[in-house]
Amino acid sequence: MGIEVAVEGLTMSFGKQNIWQDVSLTLPAGEVSVMLGPSGTGKTVFLKSLIGLLKPQRGRVLINGVDMVGGRERDIYETRKLFGLMFQDGALFGSMTLFDNIAFPLREHTRKRESEIRRMVMERIELVGLLGAEGKLPGEISGGMRKRAGLARALVLDPQIVLCDEPDSGLDPVRTAYLSQLLIDLNARIDATMLIVTHNLDIAATVPDNMGMFFRRNLVTFGPREVLLTSDEPVVTQFLAGRREGPIGMSEEKDAAALAAEADSAAGRPDGPRVIVPQLEPSPGLPPRAAVVRRRERVLGMLDTLPPAARAAIEDTYARQAAARTVPTPSPGGGA
Ligand SMILES: Nc1ncnc2c1ncn2[C@@H]1O[C@H](COP(=O)(O)OP(=O)(O)OP(=O)(O)O)[C@@H](O)[C@H]1O
Ligand SMILES: [Mg+2]
Repeated sequence: MGIEVAVEGLTMSFGKQNIWQDVSLTLPAGEVSVMLGPSGTGKTVFLKSLIGLLKPQRGRVLINGVDMVGGRERDIYETRKLFGLMFQDGALFGSMTLFDNIAFPLREHTRKRESEIRRMVMERIELVGLLGAEGKLPGEISGGMRKRAGLARALVLDPQIVLCDEPDSGLDPVRTAYLSQLLIDLNARIDATMLIVTHNLDIAATVPDNMGMFFRRNLVTFGPREVLLTSDEPVVTQFLAGRREGPIGMSEEKDAAALAAEADSAAGRPDGPRVIVPQLEPSPGLPPRAAVVRRRERVLGMLDTLPPAARAAIEDTYARQAAARTVPTPSPGGGA
């Protein structure tokens, strides 16, 4: 079962450059979360801070009682073994076959026999749909296949926490849709806590239980997906609509004058109505996601603390699900 990751008051700077400050959030055990944010807002730095590879100046990241920021290096090293990481650039070794790339963490971190390694690697290769390609070099396959190989490698040590940094970058829309389904199926199979950094709005709309967003050195929001998807925060609506008009600029944030000019020209061009599309379900034949029941309890328990639009969306979602589960029974006496 997945493990909760609790982030408390995290602040990170490189020299004088502050990346983000006072970031607090909890990745609920076994749930899927997505982190959004314009380029350069520190999403990759955040992932690296969760596994203790970067050390924020303030705050804690608690996993099973171990603080990945200020804890003992020994404990951090052990806790890091719970993670599976899929890097932004795939990060495969170019001179190794896919098989050897995926086997690498097993050969590095365990003393398993080669026959056992073969069994485990082939199982992951099948899971990500790369059967038959295991003998190829990374340079001989497409970018989408390399992505999936990176995911297979992230999964080979049976991680309880999976971090994916832009798993969709460089994928076509169809491959991205398959990837979204793969992530949900993966969660149903292994019940790992998952955090996905992405710029892809389809993934954001259909995959996660929870969503957050970084902007201007802050975590703008983090919570149940419905909160971000119904948010009126200008930076959130601009990002979700992929508009030029709004606080997010090409290089950095825009200045006040540019914003005011835009507000004038953008007036009377409202975004389309916002519809919350249903979250993906695991593929037929897979078990239901264990996190769904836990999430329902958790979210219904916090309903009073959420904005009205998010509350309405959550109630609507769960009402629809309840209706779908209720099989209509014929009324006594034949009726109709
Ligand atoms: N090791 C480092 N030393 C100094 N600065 C760094 C280091 N790593 C990242 N940065 C800086 O931190 C900022 C955030 O970088 P990060 O890679 O986390 O952004 P991001 O949100 O992942 O962007 P993208 O969406 O483009 O991947 C950048 O300004 C980057 O230059
Ligand atoms: Mg990044």
